[in-house]
Amino acid sequence: MSMNTQFLQASPESIALGAELIRRGEVVGFPTETVYGLGADALNKDAVAKIFKAKGRPGDNPLIVHVATLDMIPALIDGEMPEAARLLADAIWPGPLTMIMKKSALVPAEVTACHDTVGIRMPADQVARELIIKSGCPIAAPSANLSGKPSPTTALHVLRDMDGRVPLIIDGGASGVGLESTVVDMTKYPPVVLRPGGVTPEMIARICGEVELDDRLLKPLGEGEAPSSPGMKYLHYAPEGELTIITGDKDSVAAQICIMYDEAISRGYDCRILALDSHMQLYGARQTTSLGANETEAATRLFGTLREMDDLGAEVILSEGFTAEGVGLALMNRLMRAAAFRILEAGSK
Ligand code: TXA
Ligand code: MG
Repeated sequence: MSMNTQFLQASPESIALGAELIRRGEVVGFPTETVYGLGADALNKDAVAKIFKAKGRPGDNPLIVHVATLDMIPALIDGEMPEAARLLADAIWPGPLTMIMKKSALVPAEVTACHDTVGIRMPADQVARELIIKSGCPIAAPSANLSGKPSPTTALHVLRDMDGRVPLIIDGGASGVGLESTVVDMTKYPPVVLRPGGVTPEMIARICGEVELDDRLLKPLGEGEAPSSPGMKYLHYAPEGELTIITGDKDSVAAQICIMYDEAISRGYDCRILALDSHMQLYGARQTTSLGANETEAATRLFGTLREMDDLGAEVILSEGFTAEGVGLALMNRLMRAAAFRILEAGSK
């Protein structure tokens, strides 16, 4: 599958080229405010098949369909948009929210992995919006990483994973949110959050009255348990090193991490610590990478930091935990998957 990959800065010309490729049934890497996407014409099943091939993605994991305007939606869904979905669209779109609704016959089964629902999102990123408008079609796009790798938050991450696999990557700078969109099942009321993101459950409840959280956002699927969203069953974002999350109050966490770090070093492992800015001094001279000043910054930096850990050859990674509230819920959801649910309460060992 090796082809020449063009890597271009976002400009009217590169967006026009991207739109032309998409109209011709090709796949293009492009920026969004959450993470980079790998886009193709959502109504062309052969084009969609190329996305799965480029990513090495299992065929049973459905793609999100991206639109630029509300008038693109009626053709994609069966019947009317639910009332709660209209309220959320008004308040949050364009933005990092994906709403699952009943699909129309027009959406190919390849996009939705044979589900009778489709996930729809209107991204806020200007390059993404122009690409959709110029392509003249809804764009199906998963995150632009190889399946199993952390989602890309810069165009260079995309190039790393997709060089030779797609004809064009458009560089629109670093993604602001840094975690994938919040996915909400709007076929139910109250709507159910299937994947937390930058749009928090608190925001959703304020806009449409109520919201529920899927009870597996912060724990692994049980054996034989069916996921509410196919994406839940895959172990995402895993760095090559063994990541463990340490939870508790900040001083116990730091003490526990220091003990584990020193032990890993004495056994000859390359060990790295992930911590908030204001905690860095608690780790002394140990190799510590900052996740930023707060949870919002940590969300923006997490995936890039996990990729950096691979580049550094980190074998043991010890991360501070976060409170699973607000953006912290999305952050812990991703961090726990990256850690394959290895979580240790400080002081408990
Ligand atoms: O922020 C984002 O959502 C990014 C950017 C590119 O828009 N896209 C993204 O796509 O993260 P992807 O394919 O990596 O993740 C889509 C998630 C998966 O977990 C998938 O299982 C779930 O959404 N999903 C998509 N359609 C669904 C459906 N009809 N029912 C349930 N879950 C669905
Ligand atoms: Mg993904």
